[in-house]
Amino acid sequence: MAKKCYPTVSEEYQKAVQRCKRKLRGLIAEKHCAPIILRLAWHSAGTFDVNTKTGGPFGTIRHPDELAHDANNGLDIAVRLLEPIKEQFPILSFADFYQLAGVVAVEVTGGPEIPFHPGRPDKTEPPPEGRLPEATKGSDHLRDVFGHMGLSDKDIVALSGGHTLGRCHKERSGFEGPWTNNPLIFDNSYFKELLSGEKEGLIQLPTDKALLEDPVFRPLVEKYAADEDAFFADYADSHLKLSELGFADAE
Ligand code: HEM
Repeated sequence: MAKKCYPTVSEEYQKAVQRCKRKLRGLIAEKHCAPIILRLAWHSAGTFDVNTKTGGPFGTIRHPDELAHDANNGLDIAVRLLEPIKEQFPILSFADFYQLAGVVAVEVTGGPEIPFHPGRPDKTEPPPEGRLPEATKGSDHLRDVFGHMGLSDKDIVALSGGHTLGRCHKERSGFEGPWTNNPLIFDNSYFKELLSGEKEGLIQLPTDKALLEDPVFRPLVEKYAADEDAFFADYADSHLKLSELGFADAE
């Protein structure tokens, strides 16, 4: 991972992060909204472009222009769900708040602990549309899009395991159904289901299936299906990277 040089935040800010984390645990447990919160955090960060250093996890996703991007269909629901908590912590940037929520969503559903470093500033300029992956495409597209974020082949496969949570909604993406039988539990079942083939009621997107056909991606799918600890370790690394794209990069 690129060297990071984290900013120092005040003690008051650190305390707000800890208290906010507890409130987020409560909200996500109560509303069963971990999946859409994780999707919000990912779509917020995944717009980063490593060449121009634009986009990324800097709070812009709450702006109507960015929420209106095709890929973000339905994420206004997540922004709204989180509002009552954010109001209690005006000191926190939206940028930190959304990434903290993503980390908590993984943690409370049984996933790995992901380190969280505060200090992301809020930016005003939303990224251009078209930086997030399209589900109808293949592995070249995945490499292209994640490559622009500055992420690797291993990051692509590990992060795809985020689809252990949640489901597709016809009215949001045109696809329908969950990837696993327990979409509120973060485990390695996404990879197990992927290897066992399509089943009635479960979904595999073209981009999910692309992971099986690619000679670099497939061995990782097999490894994560066989070894949940290995998946959790790599997922935590890749999620941390994703959540800090363009943040605290040492020059
Ligand atoms: C690899 C490229 C990816 C593609 C093409 C993709 C595509 C999609 C699509 C089409 C949906 C359905 C949205 C809906 O109809 O509600 C979805 C949902 C979701 N995605 Fe992805 N995704 C990708 C990567 C990721 C990553 C990296 C993460 C997180 C680490 C993630 C987390 C989620 C979650 C949690 C949901 C469920 C949301 C809900 O239940 O409301 N996805 N994704």
